[in-house]
Parts: sequence; structure tokens; C-alpha cells
Amino acid sequence: MQFGDEGKAKVIDYFLITRDYDAVARYHGGGNAGHTQVDRHGNEVITHIIPSGIRKKGVYNAILSGVMVDPLEAVKEITELREMGYKVNISNLGISERAQITLQYHKDFERRQERKKGGKAVGTTMKGISPTAVSTHAREGLRFAEFVDPYYFEKFLESLPKSYKNFFERMTSILRKSGNVVANGVNVRKYMEMYEYAMNFLRPFKIDEADFLERMKDKNLLYESAQGALLDVVLGTVPYVTASETCNPPADTDKIIGVSKAYITRVGGGNLPTRMELEEEKIIRGVRGETAGAEFGATTGRPRNCGWFDGIIAKFAAREGRVDNVFLTKLDRLSGFPEIKVATAYRYKGDIIKSFPAERLVFEEVEPVYRGFPGWMDDIGDAREPGDLPQNTRNYVKRLEDMMERKITHVSVGPKAEQTIELI
Ligand code: IMP
Repeated sequence: MQFGDEGKAKVIDYFLITRDYDAVARYHGGGNAGHTQVDRHGNEVITHIIPSGIRKKGVYNAILSGVMVDPLEAVKEITELREMGYKVNISNLGISERAQITLQYHKDFERRQERKKGGKAVGTTMKGISPTAVSTHAREGLRFAEFVDPYYFEKFLESLPKSYKNFFERMTSILRKSGNVVANGVNVRKYMEMYEYAMNFLRPFKIDEADFLERMKDKNLLYESAQGALLDVVLGTVPYVTASETCNPPADTDKIIGVSKAYITRVGGGNLPTRMELEEEKIIRGVRGETAGAEFGATTGRPRNCGWFDGIIAKFAAREGRVDNVFLTKLDRLSGFPEIKVATAYRYKGDIIKSFPAERLVFEEVEPVYRGFPGWMDDIGDAREPGDLPQNTRNYVKRLEDMMERKITHVSVGPKAEQTIELI
């Protein structure tokens, strides 16, 4: 419900333990996502395109057509999971035959675009997300079924417009001069070589998505979103957004759980109106690698900017995302602040704004109007029942509920699945 990194993987983990699901499906985004789960022994498992159900026995995981798949990264992810001892094979993972493929030239192109923008760079994850989406919408995208078949892959590469190929070849030489290791433009032979292993490795995972969804009709399917509502390419803080619709859940969902942090974080470019003072931010962010709760990107390792809860953003996400209930995460990290602030409105050129502004320049300049709440000093990581939480914590949760106009059904007080309190 914010700018991503709200802790969805832990939420998925919790639901898979406490409810019966047959499958988990990812339906948008790509390798830009970083989903961190922590097992019972405290080991971190980070996935990017593979749904967070992969660690759970008996759960099938589907990567649907809205997901952008970088074959080289997919091979790496599957291999790493296997090395960690998890089973990943066609009995528990399928990739839609229509999933869009990210190739090397998408990543090269993104690097160049970002560099050209200088100080105005989006601060992307460099996973080729936006160029892949552009290819799709320019009707020049490659599908998974075509990628894993050498005949169609070669035909696809050959069919790319000449101008396109020239452009990428020119760009490649520019990148190489600046010391970057890149593929040789869109050189068909080199591409076929570079991707041969991935093609063979991934081929067995191909599934018919329509067939999968049909089979799921009378089963329990958990859709796993990625990124955050405010990074939505249509609704979010353009241009500092990702390239998929992150705030648009699939139509066949019975219930939509919005995941929100008890505060807010953001990586990459764009305004974070409620950003904390440096000293406060340091406390919330913690130390890299200290725990899965520390505020460093799971995909890029970048430190996240941290801010107080933004009620304007949360209400917008709840409404646009058709959220039924909210799962509030990372409440434990607010322990120790004598006062906790919440933005209830924005100030812009002397005016008070109470809803998320559509004009992007306005959002870039708004200032928060805060309300303060008394904090709590106790560590709440061991709380398991609502009654275990200090009264000030419960008051804070209630206040967030009022602002979001949605019931908070769960709060998370640590990275492990069991560190969850059900409020109903
Ligand atoms: P892209 O998705 O790599 O194009 O990056 C666009 C913007 O979205 C950048 O500000 C990224 O930091 C941000 N972003 C993309 N994916 C995630 C995510 O999973 N969590 C948080 N931020 C993300």
C-alpha cells in the first residue's frame, strides 16, 4: 500500500502456514521485486520472480503472463533455491507460456537511459523492467514459449527492425567503452549462445496459463503482488514509478489484503513527504544485514529512505487498490520513540490538501501536516495476542485504521511468520 518493501513475503508465509492454499501466483512486475522470508532458524530466503510459496510443500507456484521474466536471472534464482535445499521442479513451479521476456538489450538500454537522466534518474533497479514493458506495448515483446524454442527465438531476433538492431549495437559499443560488460548488441548468433543454457533449463516449466486458472476455479489461489501501490505506472508518483500496474488486483479475487508498514519507506527517486530526521531514520533503518527487518533493498541493497506513516497515501492505496483488510507490518520497529507522528494532510503553497494529488509536480513539493501520538518503549517482538501490546501501540493501530478507513486484521511484530498478531 506504499512504495514497496512492506513485507509481503512474510505475509504470504503467514497465510500459507495458517490457511490452506493450493497455489501462489505472481501476476505483474518482475525481477525488480525482492521478497524476503525468514525461516524458523532465522535464515533469509530472498526471491525475485518466483512466488513466495516455493518453500511450502504441496503448494504450486505460477508465474503468470503479466510477469517479466529475465531468463538468466530465473535460472540463477532456481539454482540458488535448490542449493538452499528447496525443491524447485515442474511439480511446484510453472511459467506462463505468454510471460514477457527481458533480454540483455533491455537492461543495456535502461542503463543508458538512467545515466542520460543524471540527477533526474528514476533510480530503477536496473532489471530492464521499463524497456521490457515498452517492448510489450510496442508489440515487439518476446513470449516465454517463443524464448524456450530455439527456432522461434532465432526468428524473433531476426525479425527485430534493422533500426532497432543498429541502435542497440551502437549503444553496446558506447557501454563497452565505458567499461560495462554487455552483450554484443542484438547479434543473433551471440544471443542464441548466451541464452542456450537458460532456454534448455527453463523449457520444462512452460505452462498454459488459461488452463491453470481454469483448474484453480474451485481451489484456493493466493495472488502475490509486487512493488507498491504508489509505484503503479498509471496511478502512482510518475515518473518515479515502476512499469506495471501495481495497484490493480486480478478480477477474480474474493478478498484483497493490503499490506502496509506502520511507517513508510522508499528507494529510488521521488519525494517522500514524511521523511524523518536523519537521527530518527537511522534508528528505523538499522544496520545492513542486522535482521530481515533492516531497511535495505532486497534486490539492490540500497538503503531505504524512511518516513512517518502517511495517511494520505495509505487512504488512496486502500481505495484504489480495492483493499478489504489491512495487514500492518513492522510495528516492532517503532518501539522506543517517545513520540510517533502521522501525516494527516499535506500543505502546498499555503493550501491544505487532504487527498493524493494527481498533478505530479504538486506531490514533489507537498509538506506533511502531522499529528503526534505518544509512543511506547517496550520491545513488542514477542507479543502474540492483542493484549500483549502496550495501550499506546493499540491506540496507534486504531488511529491508522481510522485513516485508512479499513480494518487492520493482522499486525506483524517481526520477520518470522509466527511474529504475527491476529486482531479479529
Ligand atoms: P523499476 O521497477 O526497476 O523500473 O524501478 C522503478 C522504481 O520502482 C524505482 O524507484 C525502484 O526503486 C522502485 N521499485 C521497483 N521495484 C521495487 C520493489 O520491489 N520494492 C521497492 N521499490 C521498488
